[in-house]
Amino acid sequence: METECLFIENLSCDFLTIEGIVYALNEVNLRLKRGEIHGLVGESGCGKSVTSRAVMGLVDKKHTRLRGVVRFDSKNLLSLPEREMRSIRGRRISMIFQDPLNSLSPLETVGSQIEEAMANHFDLNREELRSRTASLLEKVGLHSDTAKQYPFELSGGMQQRVMIAQAVSCNPELLIADEPTTALDLTIQAQVLNLLKSLQKELSLTVLLITHNFALVTENCDNVSVMYAGRIVETAPARSIIESAAHPYTRALINCIPRSNTGGRHKGKLPVISGSPPRLYAPLKGCPFIPRCPKADSVCGQNPAVTDIGGGRSVCCHRFGDT
Ligand SMILES: Nc1ncnc2c1ncn2[C@@H]1O[C@H](COP(=O)(O)OP(=O)(O)OP(=O)(O)O)[C@@H](O)[C@H]1O
Ligand SMILES: [Mg+2]
Repeated sequence: METECLFIENLSCDFLTIEGIVYALNEVNLRLKRGEIHGLVGESGCGKSVTSRAVMGLVDKKHTRLRGVVRFDSKNLLSLPEREMRSIRGRRISMIFQDPLNSLSPLETVGSQIEEAMANHFDLNREELRSRTASLLEKVGLHSDTAKQYPFELSGGMQQRVMIAQAVSCNPELLIADEPTTALDLTIQAQVLNLLKSLQKELSLTVLLITHNFALVTENCDNVSVMYAGRIVETAPARSIIESAAHPYTRALINCIPRSNTGGRHKGKLPVISGSPPRLYAPLKGCPFIPRCPKADSVCGQNPAVTDIGGGRSVCCHRFGDT
């Protein structure tokens, strides 16, 4: 059995806008093993959502240059006709968005929105659709009567559960969760993540969990990829990354995790990474982290290659081994 669920190689994405070209993704390399939860972290604007939209075939091809390979089930999704992509999207690869209220229609009941995806992909009659929707709602911890309600009648946590029910309704192989808990308070965040984890096990899903929150990744993921300025700069097993982060950007992100259990490692101000990510209006030359990197030197002006450093770890940095 194939162990890889998704293989992304040298994925680049340029948006052709009236203000100029935005070089949003620069040769992204990402592999998701079947059945794993893979975290994708990085600051705002680094390309996490664009990566997921490219996988889902949701990038407007007219105003975008997409290059590279997104291989799923031995097909390159980037070159698949829209008709074929439609049979994969929502059925074999599905997605949960950050903001459920913007993703659910305010005009349709929860039930009819969950039924819609199943009706598109499966040959089911009304009764079957209704009973599958009821059991999906129960599976995500909601009462089956929620089917009759409208999204605005539900709390944020309940809406996110509806999105999850919708996303898993067609038994997908790959689930992309783009910041699924950002809008929720901490207790509900934990509940939604626990739900995602239990569904992942029960349904043998492969999950790409996109988040800003490094702590969330180390607690919930098998592997993690760190993104910066449209590139994956490091990939490693999530449990060991705190101790063995190789890229200076990964270390900087880890250093920003608040430590509350011991009363705070950082007394007073929380640390921040000084400076900000580069604007993406020109193609990257060399390492994009140079202006913020404590280790940068002249060699970093050259484009760093991805180096396999063993133990399932890879890093894209000239100075990763230096202390
Ligand atoms: N349709 C578009 N046209 C032009 N630029 C775009 C478009 N979509 C995204 N971008 C740009 O691509 C870059 C990556 O955006 P993306 O939404 O992937 O960031 P992100 O990592 O998901 O950030 P966040 O954590 O804030 O969600 C940003 O600079 C963004 O402005
Ligand atoms: Mg995003």
